[in-house]
Amino acid sequence: MNEKENPRPLRVLQLTDPHLMADPAGALLGVNTRDSLDAVIEQVLAQHGQPDLVLATGDLAQDGSAEAYRVFAEKLRAFPCGSGWIAGNHDVRGVLELVASEQQANRRHIVQGGWQFILLDSSVPGKVFGELADSELAFLADTLAQNPALPTLVALHHHPVDIGSDWMEQIGLRNRDAFWDVVDRFPQVRIVLWGHIHQEHDLHRKGVRLLATPSTCIQFTSGSRKFAVEELPPGYRWFELETSGEFRTEVRRATDFEFDLDSNSTGY
Ligand SMILES: [Fe+2]
Repeated sequence: MNEKENPRPLRVLQLTDPHLMADPAGALLGVNTRDSLDAVIEQVLAQHGQPDLVLATGDLAQDGSAEAYRVFAEKLRAFPCGSGWIAGNHDVRGVLELVASEQQANRRHIVQGGWQFILLDSSVPGKVFGELADSELAFLADTLAQNPALPTLVALHHHPVDIGSDWMEQIGLRNRDAFWDVVDRFPQVRIVLWGHIHQEHDLHRKGVRLLATPSTCIQFTSGSRKFAVEELPPGYRWFELETSGEFRTEVRRATDFEFDLDSNSTGY
């Protein structure tokens, strides 16, 4: 059945910041990151069922190990559909790309369900902040110019806007003006999506929805001036995308996941 005969919206799952480690006991602030990802995946299957596409928006590994990326691939077997992975500040780009290529998850441009998905690498080796290289900006501009009719979701790891948190302002996308200079030229962009900040945001800018999503492990306190974590369960974002460009999205959390968060930590 082709897309014109099938009016069902495209179902897209975003998983972000799982921070997996080679050590099966690996934990962030007391939360075992494999267990929390398992809980999120169970919640997806119970709440929404199978997606048509998974977008994994960075910090897939905490330790940059091939084992951690292979564990991520193993967890994604819960979803037989394809996926696209991008790097965050904790990732080691070369190792991520190697394992992603084994999984056919190294696609940076995906056309599916009448939409296109452009996945950008905003990671900067050795830095927590993000920056889009000239080659990434050119890839974004060229891809948008070549596909003017497709409603578009652009995904990256780092936040390209102020999210009202002093400590995170220092670790967002540095060259955000250059990013918006491109996006503003292309009205088919409907969604800009990111991870990194381990919290939910839903903002609007010039007709574009700006969406951030909880981590599948620990959550940072929204609006906090200094580093702080809060005891919210791990979560994910779900999209239902219509070929008309309209869409619905929501964040859900694994509310049954039990964890003992070390709330006194001053960093992660
Ligand atoms: Fe993260």
